[in-house]
Amino acid sequence: MKIEILTLFPEMFEGFLTSSILGRAVEKNLVSIRIHNIRDFAANKHKQADDYPYGGGAGMVLMPQPLSDCIRHVLSDYQDEEAESMPKVIYLSPQGKVLNQKLAQQLSKEPGLILLCGHYEGIDQRVIDRYVDMEVSIGDYVLTGGEVPAMALIDCVTRLIPGVLGSCESILEESHTAGLLEYPQYTRPAVFNNDEVPQVLLSGDHKKIGNWRRQQSLKNTMKKRPDLLSRAALTEEDYRMLKELEDSN
Ligand code: ADE
Repeated sequence: MKIEILTLFPEMFEGFLTSSILGRAVEKNLVSIRIHNIRDFAANKHKQADDYPYGGGAGMVLMPQPLSDCIRHVLSDYQDEEAESMPKVIYLSPQGKVLNQKLAQQLSKEPGLILLCGHYEGIDQRVIDRYVDMEVSIGDYVLTGGEVPAMALIDCVTRLIPGVLGSCESILEESHTAGLLEYPQYTRPAVFNNDEVPQVLLSGDHKKIGNWRRQQSLKNTMKKRPDLLSRAALTEEDYRMLKELEDSN
C-alpha cells in the first residue's frame, strides 16, 4: 500500500514511521509512506498557508492554493494508473465517518491512501468538494490537527495488511474483529504476587481453553461494551453462556 501524508507539520511523523511494526513494514516494502509539506507549495513569498475565514469568526483556514497544488503534485505520480489503482483521498476531520475496525479493514484493501491533515479551523471547502473521497474522524472530540488522527488511521490500517503482523491468528481473535472484546491474556510466571493464572490455561486442553476464552470474551463485552453485543455474530452456545453469566450476577 502507498500512503501519502499531506501536512504542515512533517516533523510530527518522525519516530512514528520508523519505529516498531510500521518501521518493519516499510523496510519490508509492504507499505511505502511519503510525507509532503503543504507549506512547500505556498505560492506567496511568505510561504503562508492559512488565512482568515470569509464571514469572520475565530481561527484560521488552510488556503486552497497550497493544499490543492500539493494534492495535484501527489496525484501526478498516479496519472498513468488505472482507476482501480488510484489512491483514496481522505481528509481527517471531526466531521468524518468515525473510524472503526470495519472501516480499517476496508481501507487496508485500498491500493493507496492520500491523507490530508488539516489544522486550525479546517481547510477551504472547495478543496474538500473537488478532491476528497472520504472524511474520517477518529472519534467525537476535536483535536488541534489531523496529524494524530492520521497516525491512528495508518497504525490500525497497516497492521491489517497481510505480512505486517507476525501471525494472522492474533488479528482474527483480537478485540472488535469478531464484534466482541478479547479475552484476558496472561504470561509467565504462573504465580505473580500470589495471583495465579486461571488453571484452565495451564491444562493443555485446547477445547476447554477455547470455551473459556469465548466465555471471558462475552463476559468482558457484557461488562465493558454491552452496546457491541447486539451487533456481534453470536451462536446458540454464546446465548446460552450469556444467559448463564446474567443469571450468575
Ligand atoms: N481533526 C481534529 N479533530 C479530529 C478528529 N476527531 N478526527 C479526525 N481529524 C480531526
